[in-house]
Amino acid sequence: MRLKDKIVIITGGGSGIGRATAIRFANEGAKIVIADRNEKTGEETLGLLKEKNSEAIFVKTNVADSKSVQNLVNQAVECFGGIDILFNNAGVGNSEVRSVDLEEKEWDSVIDINLKSVFLGIKYAIPELIKSGNGVIINTASLLGLKGKKYVSAYNASKGGVILLTQNAALEYGKYNIRVNAIAPGIIDTNIIEQWKNDERKWPIMSKANALGRVGKPEEIASAALFLASDEHL
Ligand SMILES: NC(=O)c1ccc[n+]([C@@H]2O[C@H](COP(=O)([O-])OP(=O)(O)OC[C@H]3O[C@@H](n4cnc5c(N)ncnc54)[C@H](O)[C@@H]3O)[C@@H](O)[C@H]2O)c1
Repeated sequence: MRLKDKIVIITGGGSGIGRATAIRFANEGAKIVIADRNEKTGEETLGLLKEKNSEAIFVKTNVADSKSVQNLVNQAVECFGGIDILFNNAGVGNSEVRSVDLEEKEWDSVIDINLKSVFLGIKYAIPELIKSGNGVIINTASLLGLKGKKYVSAYNASKGGVILLTQNAALEYGKYNIRVNAIAPGIIDTNIIEQWKNDERKWPIMSKANALGRVGKPEEIASAALFLASDEHL
């Protein structure tokens, strides 16, 4: 077991990449704190973990809200006694419109959910990860954090920010033996891409846009997260 008794927070654990990672990590012996703003899907993931007799809790969380993230960290510590691994994964897309047509409110919301959330996770979990002595942070960025694409300005900017925040945290906390990495997935088959599937013009192109010529599976990202969370680098 590669994560035996490791205490892990997974944001966005209610679906997609977060759920697949929760299941993968639980199979490797981790104790999981599922965080999601969606109570129904968060509880569903919890049910899947409990079926496997994994130790897990669900904490309803809005990752864009400081108090909510503090509560998440407190609940993890109260229930399991600390935190070893933080997977900052929750995220949203934005309406595909030009910047001039994007509502400021939506810009703020996408930046808060995708980028500020990572800052809040780092801010409140770092003291516990330092205590762990072998802490890990994994942030879900995106291919769209590495290259520009028309009509997704807020998403582009938020995920580009996640990549630099990852590098910043890696440099600030490496001396505490905390490893900080980001994953930048291509197109993965989760709820976030559902809207594209109905686009008869774009979908045939998008569905083959990954290097392998197919859409990725959330389990494939979970495998990358498992490598980064484990001690296999040693
Ligand atoms: N699917 C893709 O093609 C793809 C590609 C690159 C990056 N990503 C990133 O992967 C991450 C996971 O997304 P996914 O693809 O699994 O999609 P998803 O929609 O299945 O999962 C996202 C989860 O985040 C939760 N969430 C959203 N806002 C939240 C908030 N404010 N507080 C707490 N939880 C919140 C949702 O309820 C959902 O459970 C996101 O950061 C996304 O940007 C996805």
